[in-house]
Parts: sequence; C-alpha cells; structure tokens
Amino acid sequence: MDSTVSESESRVVPNFLDENRELSEDCKDLIATLPLEKGWVAKHLHQYQGFWHTTRQLQGLLSCQNHFQAHHTDILIVTTPKSGTTWLKAWTFSLLHRHKYHPTTQNHPLLTHNPHFLVPFLELDLYLDKPSLPDLSSLPSPRLFSTHIPYVSLPISVTQTSCKIVYLCRDPKDAFISLWHFTNRLRPHTMLPNSLHEAFHKFCRGVSLYGPFWEHVLEYWHKSLEHPHKIMFMRFEEMKLNPEFVLKKLATFVGCPFSREEEEAGVVQEILKLCSFDNLSNLQVNRNGKLSSGEAHRAFFRRGEIGDWKNHLTSDMIQQLNAITEEKLAQHGLRF
Ligand code: A3P
Repeated sequence: MDSTVSESESRVVPNFLDENRELSEDCKDLIATLPLEKGWVAKHLHQYQGFWHTTRQLQGLLSCQNHFQAHHTDILIVTTPKSGTTWLKAWTFSLLHRHKYHPTTQNHPLLTHNPHFLVPFLELDLYLDKPSLPDLSSLPSPRLFSTHIPYVSLPISVTQTSCKIVYLCRDPKDAFISLWHFTNRLRPHTMLPNSLHEAFHKFCRGVSLYGPFWEHVLEYWHKSLEHPHKIMFMRFEEMKLNPEFVLKKLATFVGCPFSREEEEAGVVQEILKLCSFDNLSNLQVNRNGKLSSGEAHRAFFRRGEIGDWKNHLTSDMIQQLNAITEEKLAQHGLRF
C-alpha cells in the first residue's frame, strides 16, 4: 500500500514546496535567465519555452528532455493539470492490465495504490528527486507513463518514435476552479489561500502550472489532427457524458480493443465502476495516503463533475474566460 500521512510527517516541509533541493547547476543557470512570476503554491514560476513551471517541475522537465528515451511501444498520458489525469490513469492502467487483473478481482492494484503511483509522472516523479537516473529500459512493454509537459518541450524521442500519446483536457472554467481549490489545499497553513480574484487573473494571463492553458491544449489539438494515430485527443466532459464509448475508443487506440466476449461479459462497465469517482475516492489508500512528493491522495478527488464553475465564477469572470477560449480556440475548431 502507498504511504499514509502521519502527524510528524505532516509537519515536515513537503517535497513539492522544497524549491532548492537537487537543483542541477544547469537548471540554476537557466533559471537565472528566465522570466519569473509568483507561484500558486511554491514561491516561483519560471517561463521556459513559452510555458510556466515551478522550480522543481522545471528541473524534472530538463532532466526528461536530456535523458528520457521513448520506445516505439510506449504509451504516454499527457494532460493539462486538473483535467482528470488521476481518472485517466486509472482507466488506462485497468485497460492495459485487465488480463492479469480482472477489474473485479479483490487484489486489483487500484484498490491499494493511487493511480499516480501506478502511472508515474516523468518530470514530477521518475526524473525528479532521484539520486540517479531511473532505469526504465527493462520495464515490460507497453510502458505507461504520464506527464503535463507541453508539446513544444517534450523529449525529442517522444515525437520521433511511434509511441502513442493520450491527451486529456477540460473546459478551462472547470480546470481553473479545480486548480484554484487544489493549490489552496496544498498551501501550508502558514500561508493565506490565494483569492479567487488573484488566481483568476493569473490564469487568464497564462500564468498557471504548465500554462498558458489554451496554448497547451492548442498544440496537442493541432498535432492530434495531423497525426491521429499517434495522438488521441480527449476531453473530461466526453469521459463523463459518454464513458463507455470513450473507454472503448481508448482501448482501441492503445492497442487492446475489447473483444465481443468481453463486451458481452460487461468488462467495460466493470472497469468504469472500478475507476469511478465514488469507488476510488472512498478507498482507504486514497483517503489517507500521499504521493512521494508530499501531496495527499485525497487532494486529487474533489467533486469530479462538470460545471462546478457555476458555483464560483461571477458573470464577468465567465464572460472573460469564455471570450479568451473563443478567441484562442474556436477558430481552430475546438470548443468545450
Ligand atoms: P474537481 O476539482 O473539479 O472535482 P487531475 O487528476 O488532473 O489532478 O484532476 C483532478 C480533477 O479530476 C478533480 O476535479 C477531481 O475531483 C476529478 N477526478 C478525480 N478522479 C475522478 C474520477 N474517478 N472520476 C471523475 N473525476 C475525477
């Protein structure tokens, strides 16, 4: 089982707030040249290749760019933060491993491990805080990883091999509200929460984790149209509204389509049930565990719904976000 939060541990500064640990000289030199903004949780955000990153994130990203070697058979989950990454990891893991772990089996890894543990982030986990580089070469195929890295910053081997990318995003109004809640939850008790107003203006200016949100989405949208066999483009809203259809499409895309026997036996519905918000969020591991980087698992499960923005945003804010989305995405045929 993943680790659980003890009282003494909760008093230690969590890794995600520790900005100076393990920074390479190259990273420090680079940071000195980059535009800087105040962060949402950790102190700083740095703008690298057009996108905003925390100090730790940037260190991990550079390490990935330098060292990660994609295999032709790899599957990479790429998401904008707070668009349902945890859920998509659970779906994809269950799909790929369903012959070893039937979705109803009592020893399914998802019952005792958080999805982020089973499908690690490249830049936030595998290439961060490690005394040496991870040896990923001998992992069984297909290897399954995840990342929030924007397309422009992906390690070259990802774009030059036939590894597959599953991209997930979400209505920016919901992504923003989810990010605002999430980051306030991670802020230590000694810091005041970010006000909705302050966070909103930052988000609109593009100064958010891996932001600007719209540019992140647009790059993958274009690439998915150019290379539909390499990149599958998904929205959280589609997963919510049409889960069976999207799960089957995903299964086919990652090379493990459901057989007719499986469909008749209800395996699609069983995976959806296993990965449902109610099921995952109520598991002991997700109520009490935490990631190695320090975030409590429960912070990744809030409401899991479409449209919570209606409970938070003023009509001016709604208008402003809709206008940005319309201006930046609609002309490219992308709507939420
Ligand atoms: P809300 O904050 O709107 O509730 P990420 O995994 O990318 O960090 O995204 C977190 C968002 O996905 C949160 O949204 C969270 O509640 C939602 N989520 C997590 N697990 C889910 C699940 N199994 N089904 C639906 N939504 C889920």
